[in-house]
Amino acid sequence: MFPSKTVVFLAAVSALSASFITFDAAAQQAAAKAPAAPPPPLAPLTIQGDASRGAVLAETCKGCHGVPGSHNAYPSYYVPKRGGQNLEYIEIALQGYRRGTRSHPTMQAQASSLSDQDIADLATFFSAWVGEPQTGKSDASAHDVDEGKKKAAVCQQCHGEAGVAAAKQWPNLAGQHFSYLEQALNQYKSGQRADLLMGQQVAALDEATIAELAAYFSAQPYLHQTAID
Ligand code: HEC
Ligand code: HEC
Repeated sequence: MFPSKTVVFLAAVSALSASFITFDAAAQQAAAKAPAAPPPPLAPLTIQGDASRGAVLAETCKGCHGVPGSHNAYPSYYVPKRGGQNLEYIEIALQGYRRGTRSHPTMQAQASSLSDQDIADLATFFSAWVGEPQTGKSDASAHDVDEGKKKAAVCQQCHGEAGVAAAKQWPNLAGQHFSYLEQALNQYKSGQRADLLMGQQVAALDEATIAELAAYFSAQPYLHQTAID
């Protein structure tokens, strides 16, 4: 006795769906193993910021960004300078903390409740700080600075010859603290700070080269630490 047409059809359907399930599970496993893709790049905001509203919002930021020499405890590195930093880059940085692709706990807490307008106002306030160009805090040797200069040729396209960026959505590095630059480069390398462009830039760099690059950019006078009360 041959099975009826319906039975054959049902058997075929269940074989087919079983193979889909198997395929699906395999795809899911592969996806779990693959490294997370870098998040889509952030863009500067298109709204106009208000510096005087930013000044009020910045009350909570001053304790760290307005006190020269303040530093992050664990790991230990100096709080990055804001004076002379590009407005568009500050907007991108704050959005990165807000969406969680930059992973500093205090900065995420600071940024989590900010609206786009708040971010534009804060960025306008910070980028309007005036001050004399300074070098960053650094104990690096003159030898490391020279080595860093040679190796920094590949960074110039975006960060400028001496660390002043070619476009406003990119950060100025000149005069930033050594320990912060080193920390940032290590975070791009480990993926803790997720960024497509910088991830590619640092993938092949060893610890010594990272320190030399940080030494070079830190020694170029530009960004400034502004004390505010
Ligand atoms: C408790 C200290 C502290 C407070 C308060 C604080 N920050 Fe920060 N901020 C830091 C540290 C430390 C970093 C570097 C974090 C990292 O490694 O990503 C940072 C990073 C940043 C950056 C990115 C810098 C860069 O070069 O990429 C911006 C922008 C910023 N802060 C703005 C603010 C604003 C705006 C506020 C107030 C709403 C604020 N911060 C409050 C300590 C602080
Ligand atoms: C193709 C453009 C490009 C090149 C080349 C490039 N960078 Fe960057 N860099 C960026 C961008 C974009 C960011 C901001 C990424 C983000 O939002 O985290 C950045 C961020 C950084 C930061 C973090 C700054 C801060 O304030 O937090 C450091 C440090 C840095 N770059 C160093 C370097 C060094 C050293 C090189 C050369 C080895 C280099 N970059 C090459 C585009 C570039």
